[in-house]
Amino acid sequence: MNFIIINGPNLNLLGKRETDIYGNIGFEEFLHQLRNQYNEHQIAYFQSNIEGELIDKIQETGFEYDGIILNAAAYSHTSVAIADAIKTIQSPVIEVHISNVFSREDYRQTMLTAASCVGSISGLGLYGYKMALDFLLHQKSSE
Ligand code: DQA
Repeated sequence: MNFIIINGPNLNLLGKRETDIYGNIGFEEFLHQLRNQYNEHQIAYFQSNIEGELIDKIQETGFEYDGIILNAAAYSHTSVAIADAIKTIQSPVIEVHISNVFSREDYRQTMLTAASCVGSISGLGLYGYKMALDFLLHQKSSE
């Protein structure tokens, strides 16, 4: 099956960025492990710091892929446009946050994109992406 992980702003700096919150592992390294573990599936990856590029990728993949794992990062708290894009497409979208956003600043308590997703995972580190993938596979196998 075909899945895509879409990461938003500043997630290209995972492993270097606020390591006390986001950990020491770069996303490429994690992705390499994930792809090895799920080598019978295609796991595409896209990261952008630009809101419109994230929307373009959601639109481009959202009628063909078996699922999207989305960490829109700070845009999760602000972007009506990304929330609308998620509502527009057909592929199921699972929202992932590496940190526990509910234990952080007040401005992170507004979640604009989450309501458009099938569900969301927050605070389980990079393991959250694996959980999202497991869920999508589980859903597909019970269709
Ligand atoms: C994040 C949480 C967001 O609040 C933050 O802006 C991010 C990363 C997370 O994965 O924990 O950039 O989405």
